[in-house]
Amino acid sequence: MLTNKRILLIIGGGIAAFKSLDLIRRLRERGANVTVCMTTAAMQFVTPLSAASLSGNQVYSDLFSLTDEAAMGHIQLSRAADLLVVAPATADLMSKMANGIANDLASTLLLATDKKTLVAPAMNVRMWTHPATARNVTQLRKDGVLFVGPDDGEMACGEYGPGRMAEPLEIVDAVEAALFPQISEQFLTGKRVVITSGPTHEPIDPVRYIANRSSGRQGHALATAAKDAGAEVILISGPVNIPDPAGLETIKVETAEQMQAAVEAALPADVFISAAAVADWRVDIQASQKVKKSCDGPPALVLVENPDILATVASRTFERPRLVIGFAAETEKVIEYGQAKLVRKCCDMIVANDVSPGSGVMGGLENSVHLITASAVESLPQQSKGAVAIAIIERCGAMLEERRS
Ligand code: CTP
Repeated sequence: MLTNKRILLIIGGGIAAFKSLDLIRRLRERGANVTVCMTTAAMQFVTPLSAASLSGNQVYSDLFSLTDEAAMGHIQLSRAADLLVVAPATADLMSKMANGIANDLASTLLLATDKKTLVAPAMNVRMWTHPATARNVTQLRKDGVLFVGPDDGEMACGEYGPGRMAEPLEIVDAVEAALFPQISEQFLTGKRVVITSGPTHEPIDPVRYIANRSSGRQGHALATAAKDAGAEVILISGPVNIPDPAGLETIKVETAEQMQAAVEAALPADVFISAAAVADWRVDIQASQKVKKSCDGPPALVLVENPDILATVASRTFERPRLVIGFAAETEKVIEYGQAKLVRKCCDMIVANDVSPGSGVMGGLENSVHLITASAVESLPQQSKGAVAIAIIERCGAMLEERRS
């Protein structure tokens, strides 16, 4: 989930700092690149050497370090990150953040940033409930700072109550939520959405198949976004190596013909989104045993065309979904070919994207798409597939609303 995301982790001086070492590991397990900055107080609890070994990166702590400043200035350190995480966030650090004080490297990075900041407070229960801390928390929330925890529990000092730093995995969840914003309005409540995702595998014999590079990430992200918008979602997925999205039904298929049967069974629906990279052809006669090499040379594979699931659904005269959305995977003339597919496949919208090898889209984490309708073309910036999914689902909501009024 966090592949290629750069996290600047600021470790404050509290006993919970030992949990931040585990946090580094957890973030890295998910693919994040973690750079650590430690306050002077933090170094009383954990060592820079531990943080450097676990993060695999240099650890920063000194605002006036000639060598660090020459290698990477503090402004750059703060800007190069996708997200700043303060864990543990002590009362002192939060007070500096709320008041714009920058008198050490950590507080300077926090003031110099133009990125989102997530804080995981950790302190004694009385410090947490003190009006001064409460004021600072209110100010920070107003400034757009995100919070995770603190949790209730027994403190290192023996007292009990709110003030324990959130567990590393809770913080990781909050990091993911901060980096991949989710839909919060339930504008698809009561709607049924059927989505196809991933590649299809077309068998040649019991051990070989024809496939493509689709990872299923875009289709799966669409399913999650539609579910977050309140829809009942049926996801029909070809073979992928990513987990099933939580909280919705995933039907697994292998071939285009199986995918078509699953789609027909899942309809009627309000919205159909065809994000799968369906194989255009299958082998006419699948060998029942493994095809062996022979001295006659390689076998000739006879291909036949697969059903076009999207076109079939879009041209239904009975119970056609109110919105039928297709993708156009192109390697050239992306908008032109996308517009042609909109007409040819009778869709309400085509999401056209450039899948040429240099784009990194097929199998990658990001996408840059053009939303093509009969009346307009809207080009979205390159962004995560999760963010693209949210934009498409929001557009679905708007189109359904337009059709209703
Ligand atoms: N599609 C489908 N069934 C197929 C082939 C494609 O449902 N047998 C859908 C895809 O899910 C996508 C859209 O049609 O939403 C366009 O797919 P794409 O691969 O871009 O185009 P093709 O129709 O295969 O045409 P071409 O290969 O000529 O670009």
